[in-house]
Formats: sequence, C-alpha cells, structure tokens
Amino acid sequence: MTVENGEDLLDALPFAVVLIGPDERVRHANPPARALLGEGMEGRHYIAVLRHPVLLDCIEAALSRGEVARGEYPASGTAPRETYRVQAAPVAGEGGHAVVLSFEDVTHLHEADQIRRDFVANVSHELRTPLTALMGYVETLRGAARDDARAREVFLQRMQAEAGRMNRLVGDLLSLSRVESDERVRPTAPVDLSALLHAAAQSLAPLAGSLQVKLVLEGVESPHEVPGDGDQLVQVFSNLIENAIKYGARPGTVTVRLSGPAHEPALRGPAVRIDVHDEGEGIDPIHIPRLTERFYRVDSHRSREMGGTGLGLAIVKHIVNRHRGRLRISSTPGQGSCFSVILPAG
Ligand SMILES: Nc1ncnc2c1ncn2[C@@H]1O[C@H](COP(=O)(O)OP(=O)(O)OP(=O)(O)O)[C@@H](O)[C@H]1O
Ligand SMILES: [Mg+2]
Repeated sequence: MTVENGEDLLDALPFAVVLIGPDERVRHANPPARALLGEGMEGRHYIAVLRHPVLLDCIEAALSRGEVARGEYPASGTAPRETYRVQAAPVAGEGGHAVVLSFEDVTHLHEADQIRRDFVANVSHELRTPLTALMGYVETLRGAARDDARAREVFLQRMQAEAGRMNRLVGDLLSLSRVESDERVRPTAPVDLSALLHAAAQSLAPLAGSLQVKLVLEGVESPHEVPGDGDQLVQVFSNLIENAIKYGARPGTVTVRLSGPAHEPALRGPAVRIDVHDEGEGIDPIHIPRLTERFYRVDSHRSREMGGTGLGLAIVKHIVNRHRGRLRISSTPGQGSCFSVILPAG
C-alpha cells in the first residue's frame, strides 16, 4: 500500500466511507461501505446510489457550501435495524470540493436508549397500579365510607397493603441499582454459605408455615466458606427460597441442598453449588431464558397477588454475576423447578 493513494487508505478503515468527487460522482466506496450500501456505486452520480434524504442533504451541504454536515441514517434492509451517525466532510480538490462521507455505527446506543425507555415505562406502570388503588380508597374514605367505622378499617388495611407494595418496589429498584453499580468489584472476604442458608431459611419459615410448605436444608451441617458478599448472598438465597415457597406446591416441600466443592467445568475450577428445588407446576421452557429480565413474570396476576415486583431474579442474576458464578434454571412442567447457584470456591 502507498499512502499517496487515498483509496487504499479508505480501504484500510474499519467503518464505511464513500468518496464523492467534485463532479458529484462516487469515486470510491471502501469494503464496509459496499457491504452497507451495495456494490457498483463507483462512477455513478451520488443521487442515483445514495437515495436516503439524510445522506443527500449532508452531501449537498458539503459539496455546495463546503460545510461539514452530520445526520443520522437508519439503514434499510438490515436486521436487526442498524443506525449510523453520518458525516459529510468537504475536502478541497481540483475543480471544487470532494466529499468524504463516513458512517459510524451507533446501533448499540439506540438499543441502550430503548432499554432505558422500556424500563422507565415499566416502573411507571408498576407504581401506577397501587397508586391508583390508593387514590380510590382515599376517595371512598372521604365519601361513602366516611362515617362507617368497619369499612374504614377494611380500606385502611388495603391502603397499607398497597403502600407496602410501593415500598417494596422502590426498595427492590434501589437494591438493583446498587448491585448493578458494584457488579465489577468481585468480593474477596470469606463467608460461610451454611450459615447464610440457615439465616435465609429462618427468615422465611413463617411464610413457609403459613402456606403449608416444608422447608428442608441439606448439606449445611458444617461450614462452607467461599469468597463472597454475605448480605447479597442472603438476598440471593432468600429470593430463590421465597419463589420456591410462593410458586411451588402447597402442601409441598422445598429442598435446599448445598454441595461441593467439586470441579465445575463452566467455571474452570472448584465450585460450590446450591440447589433450590420445589414441587410446583414448573416453568414452561419458553419462559426460562427470560426469567431474569426485570419485571418478567410468567403469571403476572399470580405474582402481583403474592406481592411480587418481578425484580427478584434480576437482582439474583446480578449478584451471582458479581461473584463470577452461574445461575442455572431447570424445570420439568408438572414436576417442579430447580434453581441452582454455582459459586467459585476460592
Ligand atoms: N420456583 C418457581 N416456580 C415457578 N415459577 C417461578 C419460580 N420462581 C420464579 N418463577 C417465576 O418467575 C417470575 C419472576 O420471579 P422474580 O423472583 O423475579 O419475581 P417475583 O417473585 O414475581 O417478584 P419478587 O421476587 O420481586 O417479589 C415469577 O413471577 C414467577 O412467574
Ligand atoms: Mg421472587
């Protein structure tokens, strides 16, 4: 390659670039540009080959006024849809301006924007439901139920439940954002998983009792230390055990089994495994890959009825990632589900 030859330089660039001469014809399109815009552009008038108005406006501004022009180009015919930030820059040449048209792929920025928008919409929706109920109760208390002591008590109880739901949602959102922000910092202090499992099970014993679920712990007689964040891991186990109790069979048994350390191929080293197994209806395989998405619920009515926010498994996933572990979900419809956490053992 010789640096004297501009076309060779353009071919060495990793992003799409098109060179348009002062005669308004395409002089050169590098390989990424040909992949994006099609073959056979060279020698033709730019209007004939770059039909999109954004591209035409930018080129026009650069050619006729000698200005740098920028725009956003939604590529057609790419799936998933790609978006490019384009720039047309004039380059002085014989007989007028030549134009270098370059394309920067900003698809990922657009996707991140979309995810943010969806998240805000979801949060608003989740908050609005209990808020609407609260407003309805307040109205009833000020009107029809004003002088009715019994009705007042019932409505106040419901208001407390709705306020509690909003409080849980906000708590979970804060928890999620904290976990996300320290996901890159891997915990190093040793924690005893047996003790954490006992603590999680103990705090859920009342819920299990009230739903006629028997909670069984196995393999937790002796300490099992791994590097970890104790508070966060309790959150993981509480979430999984609570789900197993809520969505498992009643009456039924939830079994929590600690095993290892054993060699774990996925982690290329020794790992400890915690299985949380229930005897419920199980989960249809089509839902499994999406369970850890924020607000994803298989049966949103049932989850809401149980006071769920749909953020539990999203939080679990982030915490497990922070520990460089794995979350595995397996389920046979009709025979229950098993959520397994695999944590590196030092
Ligand atoms: N053991 C299980 N058996 C069957 N379905 C489950 C089980 N665990 C979770 N699910 C399904 O996965 C969904 C998401 O669970 P997740 O823990 O993220 O949210 P949640 O339990 O609805 O609310 P939260 O945990 O915030 O209180 C649940 O709504 C439920 O449909
Ligand atoms: Mg849950």
